[in-house]
Amino acid sequence: MTDHVDEYRAALARAHEHALEWLDSMDTRPVCPTATADDLAAEFAVPLQDGPLDAASVVDELAKKAEPGLMSMPSGRFFGWVIGGTLPAAMGADWLVSAWDQNAAMRRATPATAAIEGAAGTWLLDLLGLPAGSDVGFTTGATISNFVGLASARQYVLTQAGWDLDNDGLTGAPKVSVFVGADRHATIDLALKYLGLGVPIPIDVDDQGRIIPAALAEAMEKVAGPAIVCLQAGNLHSGAFDPIREAAAIAHAHGAWVHVDGAFGLWAAVSPSLRHHLDGIETCDSWTTDAHKTLNVPYDCGVAIVSRPEVVRSVFGVHTSYLLNDDLGPGDPFDKVPEFSRRARGVPVWAALRSLGRSGVTTMVERFVEHAQEFARALRELPGVDVLNDVEFTQVCVSFGSDERTKDITERLLEDGITWMSGSRWSGRDVLRISVSNWTTDTDDLTDSLNAITRAIAASDTP
Ligand SMILES: Cc1ncc(COP(=O)(O)O)c(C=O)c1O
Repeated sequence: MTDHVDEYRAALARAHEHALEWLDSMDTRPVCPTATADDLAAEFAVPLQDGPLDAASVVDELAKKAEPGLMSMPSGRFFGWVIGGTLPAAMGADWLVSAWDQNAAMRRATPATAAIEGAAGTWLLDLLGLPAGSDVGFTTGATISNFVGLASARQYVLTQAGWDLDNDGLTGAPKVSVFVGADRHATIDLALKYLGLGVPIPIDVDDQGRIIPAALAEAMEKVAGPAIVCLQAGNLHSGAFDPIREAAAIAHAHGAWVHVDGAFGLWAAVSPSLRHHLDGIETCDSWTTDAHKTLNVPYDCGVAIVSRPEVVRSVFGVHTSYLLNDDLGPGDPFDKVPEFSRRARGVPVWAALRSLGRSGVTTMVERFVEHAQEFARALRELPGVDVLNDVEFTQVCVSFGSDERTKDITERLLEDGITWMSGSRWSGRDVLRISVSNWTTDTDDLTDSLNAITRAIAASDTP
């Protein structure tokens, strides 16, 4: 084992050094990669040699070859998609998760990681204002958390309708109607596809993408039978929140299960000044959020929360002779997520929350919102710039007039390399979309990024 430990020591020392070099470079390197995946394919797709290589030299090779193709996602000037950075304690914990190498499926096999994830889950329920006693599962991300919530929903509403899904499958089952705001995230459709539930019934939304309760009520009146309503806390473009209490009450009056996709928006619950956006959140039945977005833990870490443990465990629980099931009490980690074997991805959540404390989480989320609002304020002052959304959370959607001009400015901005923001299309217009999700972003990052936008506008307007 001593030899092995020496090999680990050498490989980890190199990884440690490369990781710090990478993190140190965030202040100065361009945000976007300088090589494409095709460029790098030639670097990595060398013929596989016959014999082994020294572990430390493999780590060196990886770091050297990958560097030009890495996007500076941990940078304070990265505002693309909805992507968080990584808090130091969460990163340290993530390294330990790899070193411990626990298959975090069963409480009796890996008591430490089960206890850590259990504690993280309890803290999350408390911080997010969700019912104590709900089951919390750690998934690869919001996509799979949506799948967990909707799979639980499917199981529940079909059982209520007298259908034994586990025994009889979906063929011949009563039709399950799924109602969802027209401006939902695409992963809701993806989860429904995995579940064989087909295309949902889209409900009209307002100009911020929020579901209109009267339209939901009208649509639900027209359809009988088992139903699921999927609400959104945090619209990808506007950051807006569905009117949860009202919509959930309509859904429940029809016997529907209510799932909430709060991939990043559920974190508004930690702030007294933002919590009102989630009024009624505790009345819903299942919730999705991501820790790798707003909480700033490393990828991949989603959170699937289900108010009825017996339902989610009946969907995902496995009992067979060679397993160590712990049927009493909190349930095994693998009862709550689709994966059987998995890394202990909830451990960095515990570390992130422990390092920030309650007030630290609140301050971080409120700072994201303040930065988004500062972006919006400064951008509104520039000629020919329209901020299209009410900036109430972390998202800002900007148009520079025509779609052509918006696209051109977005391209120039990304070429400039100081900042990264996503181009997208919302409400029938091309937009530049800013998502503030990184704990390291500071006012200098805002100034540098706003200057880069101003440069891109000037370059676009220069004949
Ligand atoms: C509202 C919403 N739902 C779901 C997702 C999918 O999340 P993930 O990529 O973690 O699976 C996202 C991603 O940005 C999102 O914004």
